[in-house]
Amino acid sequence: MKVAAIDQGTTSTRALVIAEGKMPEVVARHRQQQFYPQAGWVEHNPNELLAHIRACLIEAGTVDAIAIANQGESCLAWDALTGEPLSPVIVWQDMRTAPALAEWGEMQRAKVLASSGLPADAYFSASKLAWLLKNCLPVAAAHHAGRLRLGTTDAFFLHNLAGHCVTDITTASRTGLMNIETLDWDAELCAVFGVPLETLPPIVPSMGDFGSINGIPVRASMVDQQAALYGHGCRLPGDAKVTFGTGAFVLAVSDHLVRAPERGILPTIGWSGPDGVTRAVDGGVYDAGSAVEWAKRLGLFSDFAELEAFDRPAAISRNLACVPALSGLAAPHWDRHAGSLFIGMTADTDKRDLCQALLEGIAFLTADVVAALDAETPLGPKFSVDGGLSQSRYFRQVLANATGRTIVTHTVTELTCVGLAQLAAGGALDVDLGQRTEITPEGDWSQNRARFAAAVSKSKGWRAS
Ligand code: G3P
Repeated sequence: MKVAAIDQGTTSTRALVIAEGKMPEVVARHRQQQFYPQAGWVEHNPNELLAHIRACLIEAGTVDAIAIANQGESCLAWDALTGEPLSPVIVWQDMRTAPALAEWGEMQRAKVLASSGLPADAYFSASKLAWLLKNCLPVAAAHHAGRLRLGTTDAFFLHNLAGHCVTDITTASRTGLMNIETLDWDAELCAVFGVPLETLPPIVPSMGDFGSINGIPVRASMVDQQAALYGHGCRLPGDAKVTFGTGAFVLAVSDHLVRAPERGILPTIGWSGPDGVTRAVDGGVYDAGSAVEWAKRLGLFSDFAELEAFDRPAAISRNLACVPALSGLAAPHWDRHAGSLFIGMTADTDKRDLCQALLEGIAFLTADVVAALDAETPLGPKFSVDGGLSQSRYFRQVLANATGRTIVTHTVTELTCVGLAQLAAGGALDVDLGQRTEITPEGDWSQNRARFAAAVSKSKGWRAS
């Protein structure tokens, strides 16, 4: 079987052609524009994303099946009859609803946490969808006319490309509107947020029949992070992966529904198919690749190869720390008001030191998530990583040291697409991931972790002050 796996991510849309026993082939990559209309707002053009998926499918050529991964919480409004977008895509990083959510009372927050398993945070789709209905005239007009669709990007893509307006259970689990026990839309959650339930697409399993595009069946559709969890070969409770894309997302398979405290890690759905639903736990770092890109824009380095190794000892061991909280801090800190900081510079600190501290900061924040996940679902001694930052050996070594775990990588780093293709093939697709490399922890990093924790506590609440 040959699958065209499309990863519609936050910065680009990529297509891989994946066939039994072969190494996946990257056949297309299209970067989309990022729009920042106001501080804290992040938008995409829905038609640009659609055009990129269409282009990727043409470049993939003849295949037996198609699979599409989406950005998770990013969402929009569209016309239920024509499929035309009625709003931009509000991207998962967008914080426009944070002030309104900060006004919420204890009862509302407790209700959302109990029913969806998620905190009432601007990250998830629910408050974004409610914002669209309240603030965009075409959206309100379509609602009035009984032709409004509100949903995540997957359903918009499937509606327009495959004539099948549905969302899969992994994506629904990221909205804040799905009941984490019944695994269906929750009328009370919809009422709390102000999202009309009837505008949401039906929830279906992540693999199966999603319609067809130019006669080729779409066999899988799900969140990119969950697809990567499958692609990393995580099948048993405690199997974990981290994907370093725009953000860094740690997911682990779980054998039970984790009920985390409000400031904890999140219960989510790993995947679902004929064998039922596999649960997972999740925690993210909002800025990973985006923090590295930011440093590049500032001129701290010019070529990614410069991040491969550093001559000086770890910046944190020299009391130089960076907390890259460009969009605030996610799990397990959950502080949208946290400020990014570099602390501990001296007269001889140079750009290299700042880059080193930045990479370490991303690794330490990831380690905080790993520790929080480990407390809920004990993780194994190794975990597998992929995505851009995983290519830096220095970064992987710091990650190993900070987590106290062995870090596994493969030549193939696009594991979201691998997982998608495997699920599209009903779980039976053997893919060649190339060479496997392991990096083991070196030294005792408990003091370094304590130093970083001190820096995080200084960054917390900064932007509210
Ligand atoms: O939760 C957002 C996440 O799924 C986006 O992933 O790879 O586009 O940064 P990525």
